[in-house]
Amino acid sequence: MEKKDIDWGNIGFGYMNTDFRYVSYYRNGKWDEGAIVKDSDITLNECACVFQYAQTIFEGLKAYTTEDGHIVCFRPDLNAERMKDSAARLEMPQFPADRFVEAVKEVVRANEAYVPPHGSGATLYIRPYMMGINPVIGVKPAEEYMFRIFVTPVGPYFKGGAKPIVIKVSDYDRAAPHGTGHIKAGLNYAMSLYPIVKAHEEGFAENMYLDAATRTKVEETGGANFIFITKDNKLVTPKSDSILPSITRRSIMVVAEKYLGMQVEHREVHFDELSEFAECGLCGTAAVISPVGKINDHGKEICFPSGMEEMGPVTKKLYDTLTGIQMGEIEAPEGWIYRIS
Ligand code: PLP
Ligand code: COI
Repeated sequence: MEKKDIDWGNIGFGYMNTDFRYVSYYRNGKWDEGAIVKDSDITLNECACVFQYAQTIFEGLKAYTTEDGHIVCFRPDLNAERMKDSAARLEMPQFPADRFVEAVKEVVRANEAYVPPHGSGATLYIRPYMMGINPVIGVKPAEEYMFRIFVTPVGPYFKGGAKPIVIKVSDYDRAAPHGTGHIKAGLNYAMSLYPIVKAHEEGFAENMYLDAATRTKVEETGGANFIFITKDNKLVTPKSDSILPSITRRSIMVVAEKYLGMQVEHREVHFDELSEFAECGLCGTAAVISPVGKINDHGKEICFPSGMEEMGPVTKKLYDTLTGIQMGEIEAPEGWIYRIS
């Protein structure tokens, strides 16, 4: 398969229109058989539920070219399950997990020419999403839905790749207790647009959101979970019912414990204890593991000892092991890697 003429090493995290996408419709109480199609545009009624009441959810995962030239993806079964949870919370029908995984494989195979080569620094980002499509004007769920998957080659989410970033403590809340923070709904990202634009204008790469009820505990950023490393080499990750259960974070917890012999704590993390940590990072499909050098709390800086030049040593080990597993350089735990070609 001849690859597209793309400067793989210099692409950022953006959208590129690729050749094929997957589409399936839910009508009369069932999903149709689905198909790979060419058209990247969607035409919908002006009153579609997605436009009026934001009934839309999504997922994100990646495909990689391994050292020995296969295309694989990482734990798509967990994305399928999380999407079912998101659907249930927004009164949408669930797309079956086995069909989700098959559709991911089909759409990646169809776009094989866009899967970045091994070692290029780029990967293929896969975006499954679902929306309510029939006209709805009284507030209620749609009856008809579209499930789609597109793919796009991507580079690092944050400019500078592995360079530590500076983030700020947000004055806005991302998710309410008993709200929708734990699912991947478009509405969670809509409300984060104002604070992220403000943060970027002020020179920060991301926002740290605190728990909405007490504003004393660390939740997550707009698009990633946190990891912290203690001075005695433990991995600590925030636990909360209102953050997205990151598949990357859950995988890093296993990597830390089983591959690196670290102690792992998944617990509430108080904002007050941040200055005690040796290293901090953001983790997610897009973020992979992005080191955080400083957190700005209304002008007061929390500077991690790992500094602003490079990833801290433990974060680096976690990064190398996780990406080594994803790219087929390190043996993966059973069931983590799905071969596509
Ligand atoms: N938190 C938020 C708000 C996200 O948007 C994402 C991205 O998917 C994550 C965390 C990381 O989740 P995952 O590791 O499953 O990509
Ligand atoms: C992902 O990591 O897949 C996400 O959806 C995060 C988003 C901010 C790009």
